[in-house]
Amino acid sequence: MELKELVGLKAAEYIKDGMTVGLGTGSTAYYFVKEIGRRVNEEGLKITGVTTSIQTKELAESLGIPLKSVDEVTCIDITVDGADEISEDFQGIKGGGGALLFEKIVADNSKKVIWIVDESKMVKHLGAFPLPVEVVCYGSIQLFNKFNKKGYNPEFRKTASGDYYLTDEKNNIIDLHLGEILDPMALAEDLIHLTGVVEHGLFLDCVDTVLVGTKDGVKVIE
Ligand code: 5RP
Repeated sequence: MELKELVGLKAAEYIKDGMTVGLGTGSTAYYFVKEIGRRVNEEGLKITGVTTSIQTKELAESLGIPLKSVDEVTCIDITVDGADEISEDFQGIKGGGGALLFEKIVADNSKKVIWIVDESKMVKHLGAFPLPVEVVCYGSIQLFNKFNKKGYNPEFRKTASGDYYLTDEKNNIIDLHLGEILDPMALAEDLIHLTGVVEHGLFLDCVDTVLVGTKDGVKVIE
């Protein structure tokens, strides 16, 4: 079994009847959502899902998982999502799949957040993975130039056909090639105060439990 599937299945064990569950986005979260769908259909599991992207919404709907929007629930019991990098001090980069804004909103409204990753995502310092920043389209080239001046090595995310990538909220993404982020808090503070930045992919002090898929099985870090 693929490590991503292993952690997806393990995370599904945390989900019990009556819970409101945040459903993450990406190729690892996919296995979690599929397993929740299986349990809803085969075991009669009763949960309400809150999705973090249109992609996951379509998947969950196709599996018959009952859904509500984040604004229709009082709170989310557990959110299970993937991550692009997790540092030794439990900080993360997310948004490789472009869903960082909804992922952060859902995480912020969750009592417990679980990240599911394979061991390749565990790093000493964040930053080898390009940091996604969601920006409004209007003025995004000006913002790109500001990032450049700050030495953030920005790159507009593009689609395979060369168009500017658009998020579910119809914003652009600028990926910052930083190499190593030694002070994620300071960087987050800088980014969020730049006009036109909607959200960034630094998920700081956000996760409660990390399930890491290794060749020896799932390692639980809390
Ligand atoms: C999407 C995300 C994903 O959770 C992250 O990119 C990990 O994806 P994958 O499990 O496919 O490696 O943040 O915006």
